[in-house]
Amino acid sequence: MPRTLRTALVGCGKVGATHARALRELKESQFVAACDADLDRAGRVTEATPARPFTDVEVMLREARPEVVLLATPHPLHAGAAILAARSGAHVLVEKPLAANLIDCDAMLEAARKSGVHLGVISQRRFYEPVLRMKQAIDAGKIGRPVLGVFQMFSWRDPAYYQSDPWRGRWDAEGGGVLVNQSPHQLDLLRWFLGDIAEVSGTWANLNHPEVEVDDTAVATLRFVSGGLGSIVTSLSQKPGLFTKVHVHGSNGASVGVETDRGATFIAGVSGIAEPPLNDLWTIPSEEDLLTRFQDEDRARFASIDATYHYHALQIQDFLRACRDDRPPLVTGQDGREVVALFTAIYRSHQEGRPIKFPVRAEDGDGRPG
Ligand SMILES: NC(=O)c1ccc[n+]([C@@H]2O[C@H](COP(=O)([O-])OP(=O)(O)OC[C@H]3O[C@@H](n4cnc5c(N)ncnc54)[C@H](O)[C@@H]3O)[C@@H](O)[C@H]2O)c1
Repeated sequence: MPRTLRTALVGCGKVGATHARALRELKESQFVAACDADLDRAGRVTEATPARPFTDVEVMLREARPEVVLLATPHPLHAGAAILAARSGAHVLVEKPLAANLIDCDAMLEAARKSGVHLGVISQRRFYEPVLRMKQAIDAGKIGRPVLGVFQMFSWRDPAYYQSDPWRGRWDAEGGGVLVNQSPHQLDLLRWFLGDIAEVSGTWANLNHPEVEVDDTAVATLRFVSGGLGSIVTSLSQKPGLFTKVHVHGSNGASVGVETDRGATFIAGVSGIAEPPLNDLWTIPSEEDLLTRFQDEDRARFASIDATYHYHALQIQDFLRACRDDRPPLVTGQDGREVVALFTAIYRSHQEGRPIKFPVRAEDGDGRPG
């Protein structure tokens, strides 16, 4: 029987509860500890398990000696705990975004490299069946080369969302708005489908959330290293929320697409996922009829799973197996850095009034106000 890994969680808030469930249930995991600044929260997720609750990361690492640490604190706190965990010799899987800025990302990658541990970042929508189907079709050359990628999110967050935790909606405590918090999933998909980015022009605004200082809307155009183009419109300003889609168009004229979210994107621990993620576009020659079948299959699966948990569990399982088998996880820390580079480039393009070329370096600034 394959070995289980000693696992621990840091940050036992809304999405942390989902991580804790995976660490309790996955057969690859032996859940040994959970840490939260609020002891009650760590106690809640370890209740009725052998795992021990802690309030201090260093004490937890020393006393519980986890081999894998999952991190679900607010993003500006990701780097500190990730570096401590990596230095203790633990593999680290971090909630998205990998960090709020590139200085933190580079320090985390360096700590993991020096300690010889795996660093991963959550991007659970990569595990959605319609998304995997698109990736397989693109990799099989069914749309020729992917030459045009479009990410659109028209979602909604109300004032109560921003008031729900003290760190939300502030440049210093959250590091940004729609780009940093809600968009990393689809920014990651766009890059996964179309490859590395060469240049970005972008701008952002706060259109109708006067209660917060960060961006609720951003638009950008991308040029990929491959020569392909991309377009991003991402917003939390539509009430009710409409949809979130990623579409990819190919050099042979064929297109594939996914609606990752219908209505407003879900809030972990607060709202559920009301509608299944579905392919909404599939014009591959001789496969046009498959779209209805794909949608039927995905609706049936959605009815039989808890989608707010299922895809997180799949990614956490992939990460645990990667650590056990010493292979890279499906979503690496470097993938996480590329997403932070992309939103940093949009902030910098807005601030500097010019396109930003990749690679984006930490020392060139983060483009945020202040
Ligand atoms: N993948 C997803 O779909 C998804 C969904 C929601 C949130 N997230 C990400 O997860 C992270 C957490 O978001 P959330 O909504 O769960 O936030 P949250 O505020 O509900 O939870 C954060 C937890 O971290 C704890 N914490 C704060 N400082 C700490 C410290 N120094 N040591 C230990 N614990 C500390 C807080 O007490 C709190 O319990 C964010 O980075 C967010 O972007 C990802």
